[in-house]
Amino acid sequence: MESRAIRLESEHDIVVARGEVRAMAVALGFSLIDQTRLATVASELARNIVKYAGRGRVIAQAAEHADGRTGMRLIFEDSGGGIPNIEAAMRDGFTTGRGLGQGLPGSRRLAHEFQIESSPERGTRVTVVRWR
Ligand SMILES: Nc1ncnc2c1ncn2[C@@H]1O[C@H](COP(=O)(O)OP(=O)(O)O)[C@@H](O)[C@H]1O
Ligand SMILES: [Mg+2]
Repeated sequence: MESRAIRLESEHDIVVARGEVRAMAVALGFSLIDQTRLATVASELARNIVKYAGRGRVIAQAAEHADGRTGMRLIFEDSGGGIPNIEAAMRDGFTTGRGLGQGLPGSRRLAHEFQIESSPERGTRVTVVRWR
């Protein structure tokens, strides 16, 4: 399965990203609960981009583990102002936007691999992988 890039600029794009990620999870043979996990990650991290960076994109791709398992990798990228304190932002309940502060820590818990890079110059990239 090839990789899909979805532009994120609006509320509607978040819904599209959520749906596309779910459809790709179905196609990759993920269980219903994993489809929901991946769709939840997609909508939380896509929302962060629209809310805090204004715009960006998510790249959804099939992944293959060294042990043969199939997975899905989601790469959320933006060129916004970045996250000044990643450690703080990863804490449950931390928000600068009057949110619930669960998007980043919740997404980390829903994924098997989670990586976040951020700087004021380059913006933010969050990469998550879930294996089947
Ligand atoms: N893409 C991003 N660009 C800049 N800041 C971000 C981004 N994503 C998250 N943040 C920062 O991290 C905080 C925590 O994010 P999150 O856990 O999703 O909680 P919430 O969105 O409810 O505030 C946000 O309040 C914001 O300050
Ligand atoms: Mg959030």
